[in-house]
Amino acid sequence: MRLDKFICKSTELTRTEAKKLLKTGVVQVNGEVVKDGAKQVHENNEITADGHCLTARESRYIMLHKPVDTICSNVDEIYPSVLHFIEVDKAFDLHIAGRLDADTTGLVLITDDGRWSHNIISPKKECNKVYRVWLRDNIATQAVEQFTQGVQLQGEKSLTKPAKLEIIDNTQVLLTITEGKYHQVKRMFAAIGNKVVGLHREQIGQVALGELPLGQWRYLTPEEVASFS
Ligand code: URA
Repeated sequence: MRLDKFICKSTELTRTEAKKLLKTGVVQVNGEVVKDGAKQVHENNEITADGHCLTARESRYIMLHKPVDTICSNVDEIYPSVLHFIEVDKAFDLHIAGRLDADTTGLVLITDDGRWSHNIISPKKECNKVYRVWLRDNIATQAVEQFTQGVQLQGEKSLTKPAKLEIIDNTQVLLTITEGKYHQVKRMFAAIGNKVVGLHREQIGQVALGELPLGQWRYLTPEEVASFS
């Protein structure tokens, strides 16, 4: 991780304060003064400030049941960031592993471990995401085959990867996808001439939202954390 981030994780300093500290020349990595916050460091490097050894805090892994009219961003826009729900120290130092639209509800994973979130969001990892979808029009039974084969999204070069569609009733389905393109689920149903009127993420990989109430959060269990490693 970056040296300035490591300093934040091992002290109470903000990123700006960590950069100021670095400029004063009191930070050493393996015995050498380093002033560049962008320098990559590892937990096993000896990192000191004013001669005191710095140790990074444990990484945090959290799930949130996202309500509508909130956004998966570290800054508020028209709607507030979901990070306002997470009542932990330095919540805005966390990041969101896989965004949901403002009008989508459901499971959001939040962490400060970039390597872990990479396993969730990297297209190469093909991590499963399960969505409950409510549709404007009755679902056509051939949609199951169409989504297995892949559909053409507007503006994309290739077809979507194979996706699993389970029909619950005429206008309610469960969709499992391994990609995370912009508005992917809404665009997939648009591609087959339907329209999403409600969207809720139930599961990412092995981790399910379960009975967590709307707007509530909890730490992941060690098993849930390890399931993405
Ligand atoms: N696909 C969408 O269209 N929206 C989301 O929020 C998530 C997946």
